Amino acid sequence: MDEHPPAAPPAPIVVADPAEACGRVAEELHTLLAEGARDGRPVVLGLATGGTMVGVYAALVERLRAEPVDLSRVTTFNLDEFLGLPAEHPLSFWSFMTQHLFGPAGFAPERCHFPDAELAAQQPGLAGEAYQALIARHGGIDLQLLGIGRNGHVAFNEPGTSAVAVTRVVPLHEHTREDAAAAFGGLEQVPTHAITMGLLELRAARRLRLLAFGAGKAAAVRAMLSGPVSPACPASLLRNHADLQVLTDGAAASALDA
Ligand code: GLP
Repeated sequence: MDEHPPAAPPAPIVVADPAEACGRVAEELHTLLAEGARDGRPVVLGLATGGTMVGVYAALVERLRAEPVDLSRVTTFNLDEFLGLPAEHPLSFWSFMTQHLFGPAGFAPERCHFPDAELAAQQPGLAGEAYQALIARHGGIDLQLLGIGRNGHVAFNEPGTSAVAVTRVVPLHEHTREDAAAAFGGLEQVPTHAITMGLLELRAARRLRLLAFGAGKAAAVRAMLSGPVSPACPASLLRNHADLQVLTDGAAASALDA
């Protein structure tokens, strides 16, 4: 059964360079945060890691320095975390977020959530359910940031993932581990499993903003936007979302038909 009938995929927003895309997304985030603070409304952000996000967070930090916003009612949920790394490990996603966003922007650490990788190593089902329940208790995600893996994965939803997959422990695809090998100082050091939000939670976010830069992402962007809607490319399962923007540079859009 195909619950995603073919529909015109969203046209990507192709910009001159990554900095422009990051600036646009940072501006949207700043507006969302400022409106929430002004109206006394809690804002819930879904956050991603990866090199693609570094520029987004740098632009947001800069924007918040230029025009400060009260962040005391902002809650964040990160997409995923490696199993087997303590949070303080320099390559944990917690460390990444603390370095690039939470520290410099002044987010309240107790409101910044990650799937519980320690619990997940012992009781994977419980860890997944707890994270889903926590997101639901906060009313769901207002805006979810996403990168894309070169095999079309989003978060750690690897090829073969169902559109209704929820937060759970997953084995990492060999490509994903290879991509992380340099940072970890060798493939053997790269964790074999992670806990990740599922496509069901991602599809439930009210806005999705996916960014992809560089020729290495061109095939994944093409599969996401022009290929079949299929678990073979998990990102394609987000294609019919009502408020999805895909922001790319020219290189990442270069495999799309003109
Ligand atoms: C990891 C993350 C994904 C991210 C992807 C791409 O696998 N779990 O969320 O989208 O890497 O990372 P990068 O932005 O470094 O290319």
